[in-house]
Amino acid sequence: MNANAGALPEINVEEFQKVVRSRRSVRRFLSEPVPPQVLADCLELATLAPNSSNLQPWEFYVVQTPELKARLAEACLGQNAARTAPVLIAIVARTDTWRRHARLALEHWPEATLPPIVDKYYRKIAPIHYNQGPFGVLGAAKKAAGLVLGLARPVPRGPYSPAEMNVWATKSTALAAQNLMLALRAHGYDSCPMEGFDEYRVKKLLGIPRRGLVTMVVAAGRRAENGVYNQQYRFDQDQLVHYL
Ligand SMILES: Cc1cc2nc3c(=O)[nH]c(=O)nc-3n(C[C@H](O)[C@H](O)[C@H](O)COP(=O)(O)O)c2cc1C
Repeated sequence: MNANAGALPEINVEEFQKVVRSRRSVRRFLSEPVPPQVLADCLELATLAPNSSNLQPWEFYVVQTPELKARLAEACLGQNAARTAPVLIAIVARTDTWRRHARLALEHWPEATLPPIVDKYYRKIAPIHYNQGPFGVLGAAKKAAGLVLGLARPVPRGPYSPAEMNVWATKSTALAAQNLMLALRAHGYDSCPMEGFDEYRVKKLLGIPRRGLVTMVVAAGRRAENGVYNQQYRFDQDQLVHYL
């Protein structure tokens, strides 16, 4: 099968701009629920985010039942967005699923023949690259080897520690969170990403595994009239964008 066989759809950039420009962090929601099919579509679109080595190091914990949601809102420090949203989604980065997901990547390969390079990557390279060993000793050894080899040629500089694995998993997971929020907007719903929460309590409440990192809790729902607190603003591009 030719992976490029499907014709690219016509895209109206103005519709995309509308989605991106009308997304705001909404702090007050109407009580109207998000329909299950909308939620399911947004979650599927979230998982279409680009992610490192297609190892999909994320999980989504969707909370809608009033009692659990109220307790989760409390763990989100009682923020208005969390208290008023009909749905709260804890988006979790996992540093400990890559081994299983490397196997899944092989099992789910969507074409009839598995290219040898893909087989080699998930069977041999990934297990070396992502394994940091007990107490991170393997990572430290790989880093040292990289420092020496890197004198002569470009080499990967990580992830070479448990902390770097946290960054590794969080990068991909944050992209999924953004896809989710844009998808909600495209469906006419809104969101608020939150890092203002008590991670210990959120994990305990939702039964999130010890090594899971709660990247964000996303509040989702229909925006209330007074849901946006201020006009959107950003700093000047010339300070932040560097054309080299
Ligand atoms: C990682 C992250 C954490 C955030 N945490 C919170 C939060 O805890 N509470 C909140 O009200 N907004 C939170 N926000 C929303 C930001 O305040 C908001 O994105 C920013 O002020 C820009 O506004 P806009 O999203 O409407 O463009 C967070 C955003 C991000 C990306």
